[in-house]
Amino acid sequence: MRDQFGREIEYARISLTDRCNLRCRYCMPECGVKKLPHAEILSLEEVLRVAEIFSRLGIRKIRLTGGEPLLRRNLTSLIFRLKGIAGIEQVTLTTNGVLLKTLAHELIAAGLDGINLSLDTLDAATFANLTRRKAFDKVREGLQALLDERFNLKLNCVPLIGINDGELLRLAALAKVNPIKVRFIELMPIGCAWQSGLKGIPTAELFKTLEDNFGELVPVREKNSLQGPAQYFKAKDFVGQIGFIDALEHKFCSSCNRIRLTAEGFLKTCLSFDTGLDVKKLLRMGVDDEELTEKIRETIYRKPKEHFFKGAAGLRDSRQMYQVGG
Ligand code: 5AD
Ligand code: SF4
Repeated sequence: MRDQFGREIEYARISLTDRCNLRCRYCMPECGVKKLPHAEILSLEEVLRVAEIFSRLGIRKIRLTGGEPLLRRNLTSLIFRLKGIAGIEQVTLTTNGVLLKTLAHELIAAGLDGINLSLDTLDAATFANLTRRKAFDKVREGLQALLDERFNLKLNCVPLIGINDGELLRLAALAKVNPIKVRFIELMPIGCAWQSGLKGIPTAELFKTLEDNFGELVPVREKNSLQGPAQYFKAKDFVGQIGFIDALEHKFCSSCNRIRLTAEGFLKTCLSFDTGLDVKKLLRMGVDDEELTEKIRETIYRKPKEHFFKGAAGLRDSRQMYQVGG
């Protein structure tokens, strides 16, 4: 369906949990966070019901996020059932990879179409420092399992001054020999980014460093409207691609096609606003599909025009990244 500004809304990000087995400095505080009680999280049946309604309203792609979605029990069966909904063309997920090696085969067998793996570093000590957990070997094994399968894979890397700046060429070079997308995400002022004291590397600067080393980066024209906000480039002799996401400099709000469902069942139509719909409340009040569909349709229609990350008021939503699923 189209929203009030004519944008075709066809992509839903569904957060399955607010929990995470890492504590990335830019995302979560050291001590962790108050976890939502289980009863406050949508059940898988509830997620499926909302996804059915989404599909009737024109959603074609679903990305499962968290927190860390692989922590959710029965994830594989959820994927299998989401794939069975008429109109849902793609089901993908974003993960930190800690549990990937164990689950990769069953996820693929369930019909998963793609994985975004967060990988800020290839160094075990840097990983432990940045995520406050010693889990790099597991992530590396998970990554290898996906590369071996030649699975549809995107790596997400947040370039950080003094943390991974010495490895960015190595990370980018993973797209030279593998048919994957390596995406550099500019640090955003959300989650714990401020408190952490971490400083992101500006995309323009990184772009130049990459061109100095790999030669010209040639833009790849995207034919697919389901493609996210990343801009992709190809370097000579690369089988894969390099992508950049810098939400602040290049506002992509005018072509934003996405909505978000939080783990506690709140429908958010823009990352930077509190506005939306308490879907869980309606589900648990026992409203029928018709009423639920109408309420969701109205909420999507009123999707805000643009974000205000850089505006004087700053981020207007108090929810954190791990709560809304990126
Ligand atoms: N800025 C940029 N990226 C972030 N992520 C989490 N918090 C931030 C932030 N403040 C990234 C994670 C993951 C993706 C879903 O979002 O590294 O790859
Ligand atoms: Fe977990 Fe992702 Fe946040 Fe890291 S960025 S703590 S992996 S939710």
